[in-house]
Amino acid sequence: MSAFYRREGTLYAEKISLEKIAECYGTPSYVYSRAAIEQAYDAYAHALGSHPGRICYAVKANSNIAVLQVLALRGASFDIVSSGELKRVLQAGGRPENIIFSGVGKTREELVEALTLGIACFNVESEAELDALSFVADELGLQARVSLRVNPDVDAQTHPYISTGLKENKFGIDIDRAFEVYQRAAKLPGINIVGVDCHIGSQLTESQPFIDALERLLLLVDRLADASIAIKHLDLGGGIGVTYRDEQPPSIDDYIGRVIEKLGDRKLALVFEPGRSIVANAGIMLTQVIYLKPTEHKNFAIVDAAMNDNIRPSLYQAWQDVQPLVENTTAGECNWDIVGPVCETGDFLAKDRHLALSSGDQLALMSSGAYGFVMSSNYNSRGRACEVMVDGEQHHLIRARESFEDLIKGESLLPDEEDS
Ligand code: LLP
Repeated sequence: MSAFYRREGTLYAEKISLEKIAECYGTPSYVYSRAAIEQAYDAYAHALGSHPGRICYAVKANSNIAVLQVLALRGASFDIVSSGELKRVLQAGGRPENIIFSGVGKTREELVEALTLGIACFNVESEAELDALSFVADELGLQARVSLRVNPDVDAQTHPYISTGLKENKFGIDIDRAFEVYQRAAKLPGINIVGVDCHIGSQLTESQPFIDALERLLLLVDRLADASIAIKHLDLGGGIGVTYRDEQPPSIDDYIGRVIEKLGDRKLALVFEPGRSIVANAGIMLTQVIYLKPTEHKNFAIVDAAMNDNIRPSLYQAWQDVQPLVENTTAGECNWDIVGPVCETGDFLAKDRHLALSSGDQLALMSSGAYGFVMSSNYNSRGRACEVMVDGEQHHLIRARESFEDLIKGESLLPDEEDS
């Protein structure tokens, strides 16, 4: 059963009614199910089975330290893209030897920090980064374990903003140059080549583009083996897409099974960096209707959450389901645009949803666990929402709602004219 379900007209998260959560913590708020996070992680761990490798949760999808803690306790490794994410993982109980570091723009300070801690692998995205890493490692008298992120020029057939594996994208090293770069890397001081990786995009609902990329990477691995450059692991980047509406992604078992089969008798460990598929459907965002504004052209339900709380609908035209926390049995149904209080036409959470609504009703924006809170902002001086973790019959506040003091933290007024 899904962690979020309806019983007698009321929406539940695990064993708690969401109406109760809204009453306890207010709205807007993000609510996560611990069991759903664990289940999603377990699906990857199970699919990998006894094949050597690791599941590195992509911290960017949801970086709350309690979420990371749940995953660390489950045995997950982590994929990070900044010093901030690195520190979060350590804070949550993750260990450096279970961390891989992705990202196009790692700074010298970030390289030093991660090297000194002894992380598992750097996913290097350019020749300039390779040189910088070699220099820093050599200076520190350390060896950096390295995988080159190759851009395989594969069309992921997803939204252009989250498609990353085409030649025109800023990511990775062109597959046609990768062999030469590996040859050079093999001779650089402080560099220990361990892997090859790619990440072609997010929210892929078919495994074929992943398999196309894998085939290209395997050609490279074989060519490198012939040149005595041994690759120990192959990292296929982010996970499989999820169901927001009616998408039918392959099962994790099917996907990873196909990958393992393609390896043939090559002795390659496997690394996956799933983010969305671990947390998207393990989280929802709660909001409350402030005003109903039916007009001649459109009906607007103005709610207390906005594009600053969840930017996915505005930025990617993302569709996420809207459900009432308690079914409204008095109002008539009609089509509503669910919009926020922010001063932008693009401030909407959902459009044309057939719902029975009254002012004061509470709603859930489903599938909000990934790239929801982490992409939220303080636009319009709105404090960010709180985050709550449900665990069976228990619920825990895992991030407090931001106050006005939080909003202006670090800001200061100019000195008085007389003082200057
Ligand atoms: N590895 C790398 C190097 C990545 O860049 C990403 C996501 C992942 C792993 C995780 O991919 P996933 O398993 O989540 O598909 N904000 C967008 C998604 C941006 C994805 C960025 N990279 C959204 O809300 O749809």
